[in-house]
Formats: sequence, structure tokens, C-alpha cells
Amino acid sequence: MELSVVESDGVDERTRAELRELWDSAFDDFGDDDADHAYGGVHVLARDGGRLLAHASAVPRRIRFGDGPWREIGYVEAVAVVPERQGEGLGRQVMRALQVEIAARWPVAMLSTGSHGFYEGLGWERWDGRSFTQTPEGAVADGEEDGLMILRVEPRAVPDLAVEATCEDRPGDAW
Ligand SMILES: CC(C)(COP(=O)(O)OP(=O)(O)OC[C@H]1O[C@@H](n2cnc3c(N)ncnc32)[C@H](O)[C@@H]1OP(=O)(O)O)[C@@H](O)C(=O)NCCC(=O)NCCS
Repeated sequence: MELSVVESDGVDERTRAELRELWDSAFDDFGDDDADHAYGGVHVLARDGGRLLAHASAVPRRIRFGDGPWREIGYVEAVAVVPERQGEGLGRQVMRALQVEIAARWPVAMLSTGSHGFYEGLGWERWDGRSFTQTPEGAVADGEEDGLMILRVEPRAVPDLAVEATCEDRPGDAW
């Protein structure tokens, strides 16, 4: 099994097609917006004999914590392992490699998931505050807080996990 780290600009068309196949096999309802969200940052790919087995990426996003300023953080997207190889530690390996890249770029990262236990084992913490989406009409409570998690590379960067977290709106899922 080989791990590689590649910026989105360096992901060729063939790999993009393989990635979409991986995501469609791992997720029940993966759409074009979800695929778009995975690009614009850094990817970790796991291959065995050339076959793509697992992926995770992190992209820059602007997030506001409490009434602080908007800040750039890493946002993790499209973490997936091919169904027949899940439960063998591949997901953990790609996330560990991605977290090295995150730590070199951002003081904190966030993600939205239903698989909290997987990320808790990797040092992530559950978000404890309410979540909001910034729209042209202002910040709107979006009820997404249950899925949100944070990785504090520098714990002092976000000392209080119980404040409001606000993301910018985007096509598809805001968080
Ligand atoms: C979730 C996923 C990425 C995990 O990858 P994986 O290779 O199957 O997981 P690993 O074998 O590396 O598991 C590492 C640890 O996380 C735990 N774990 C794995 N999947 C889990 C889940 N869905 N929920 C809670 N814990 C999970 C494992 O039990 C293991 O714990 P242990 O160290 O106590 O044994 C993978 O199962 C997958 O692609 N699922 C479908 C798509 C998905 O849900 N992606 C994540 C959405 S944010």
C-alpha cells in the first residue's frame, strides 16, 4: 500500500474519475457538489498495485468562532475507503497523513461527520456550540452542530468549543 500527497492542481483527469468512483461506492448519496468540495487543497491517496483504495482531503475555508474575526482553517472532505477494504486501518492511515499536512498549514481543522468515533480516535473533538451559515441576510442557525468536529493543532487557537461556529455558504451542504 502506497500513500501519496498531492495538491488539487496536480490531480489528473484519470485520478479524478477514480476518486468519483471511490466516493460513489463508499457513500450512499454523494453528489457533484460533494465532489467539488473535495478540491482546492491537499489530498492523501492510498493505492495498492495502482488501485485507488482510500482518500482524504483538506481545503481552506473561512470560519468564524464566536464573535471573533473570520479565520482560515482546514476543512476535511470526502474521507472514504473502498467498501471491501474498510475496517483494516486504511482510513486511519490516510487521516494520519492528512493531519501532518493540516498541521503544516492551519492551526485548526474542522469536518462534519456521522462517524464521530473514527475521528475521536485520531484526536478530533466534538464541537460543543451551535452552528450557523453566513448568508446575504446574515448568520442563520443551521442545526448542523451535531456532526461538527474540530482538530486543534494549536489548542489556544480555539480555546472554547462551546461558542458559535459560522461557515460561509456554498452550493450543496454548507458544512
Ligand atoms: C469511515 C471510514 C473512512 C473509516 O475508514 P476504515 O478504514 O474503515 O477505518 P479504520 O479501519 O481505519 O478504523 C480506525 C478506527 O475507527 C473505528 N471506526 C471505523 N469506522 C467507524 C465509524 N463509521 N464510526 C465509528 N468508528 C469507526 C474503527 O473501529 C477503528 O477503531 P479501533 O482503533 O478502536 O479499532 C470508512 O469506513 C468509510 O469510507 N466509510 C464510508 C464513508 C464514510 O462514512 N466516510 C466518512 C464520512 S465523514
